[in-house]
Amino acid sequence: MKKKGSFTGSLGFVLAAAGSAVGVGNIWRFPYLAAKDGGGLFLIVYLVLVLTFGFTLLATDVAIGRRTKQNALHAFGAIRPRWKFLGYLTFLVPALIMTYYSVIGGWITKYAVTYLTGHGDDAAADGYFTDFITSRVSPVFFMLIFLAVTAFIVYRGVEKGIEKFSRFVMPGLLLLIIGIAIFSLTLSHTDADGVTRTGLQGLGVYLIPDLSGMTPQRFLGILLDAMSQLFFSLSVSMGIMITYGSYVKKDVNLGRSLGQIEIFDTGVAFLAGMMIIPAVFVFSGTDGMASGPSLMFVSLPKVFAEMGAAGTIVGLIFFVMVIFAALTSCVSIMETLVASCMDLFHQTRQKMSLIIGILSLAAAAVICLGYNVFYFELTLPNGQSAQLLDVMDYLSNSFLMPAISFLTCIFVGWIIKPKWIIEEMEASGHRFTRRRLYSFMIRYVTPVIMAVLFLQSTGLLNYL
Ligand code: PHE
Repeated sequence: MKKKGSFTGSLGFVLAAAGSAVGVGNIWRFPYLAAKDGGGLFLIVYLVLVLTFGFTLLATDVAIGRRTKQNALHAFGAIRPRWKFLGYLTFLVPALIMTYYSVIGGWITKYAVTYLTGHGDDAAADGYFTDFITSRVSPVFFMLIFLAVTAFIVYRGVEKGIEKFSRFVMPGLLLLIIGIAIFSLTLSHTDADGVTRTGLQGLGVYLIPDLSGMTPQRFLGILLDAMSQLFFSLSVSMGIMITYGSYVKKDVNLGRSLGQIEIFDTGVAFLAGMMIIPAVFVFSGTDGMASGPSLMFVSLPKVFAEMGAAGTIVGLIFFVMVIFAALTSCVSIMETLVASCMDLFHQTRQKMSLIIGILSLAAAAVICLGYNVFYFELTLPNGQSAQLLDVMDYLSNSFLMPAISFLTCIFVGWIIKPKWIIEEMEASGHRFTRRRLYSFMIRYVTPVIMAVLFLQSTGLLNYL
């Protein structure tokens, strides 16, 4: 039997798991959801959800991983053979996410190179982003670079690759984001109509709850946005945290480590909002924030261009930071696939990293072509218009993830019982302080909400 890799200790695990959790979801999606969903109101809702749902699912994944010492694919079957299917279902999520995450990683790399070579102003021009993603060669080229680095880190293994890289990148990322967030607050700009807006006013837009036009319907919408953001952001219910959990040594205090991961992930998301919302507000007012997903690739370059000479440097630092965040996340996705396939096919890590790397490349190339050769416009059950990349995102995050979370809650809450998880949380001899909350959440609250989330994102809720 090959020796299984492991993290050297608690810090290595926390930084690697935070590396997986902190990604484009935090820096890109969280700020635009906050802007769309009532600023401070969204923040409060999100925080409550992290401390209840997020914590419950994170504890479940990590404890299953550490107790079984198995990766996602085999963990459920190792506990109850009849539940083997859940492992296979879970495995599908990173497989689907892998197809498009490196494509987005490639886009970010392209922007970083654009700023590095002093062409930041080009990125601010109308149509730049669309021209880029619809071109045939460039997106594939940048995706290839991003993917090659990811595969190399996974190839190096748990301790020498993933942990070492995360230890170096995560503290740096934190410093960069704090730096730009403070810079954002110092901004001030007077537009053509003579209106002056400051970064501190922008901070108000971000932090003060906006309750105007609030209806129960709208509140439910905000709740569901926050909920799906949370799962994506914490990388739970997709086998990733099970795999990382299996690399954690028995003497690590899991309860404390999980708290640190939650704080890291939520802290970075919060700071990302503090960095982006005031900057966009200063230069384009509240209108600039309605741009949704195009925020990072379209609105922000315009903001950087408005900053003058400083903009090139801030833009470069920003995109380099996002590359770091995206790389550690993509590494965790690929690691989950590689670890599972190593077991399945009894192959070495090196060989499997290579094979998965090549397969991912082929799949990601097809996704890149989704903006030209394979272009289509499909309306998803949740009403969004989608191309190939969005279809993969929908299938993994809106369809499979709530379904898997639901089944996991039933499995843990009612089949093996919460005590199984609690024992593992306390295996290091430390008390699991949130054990009561955990049992209640996993048995009653989480499965119900997961079912609602599933019905909502599949559009079935409208028929009920
Ligand atoms: N959690 C990461 C983010 O916030 C994304 C991610 C999703 C990472 C799935 C791994 C797996 O961007």
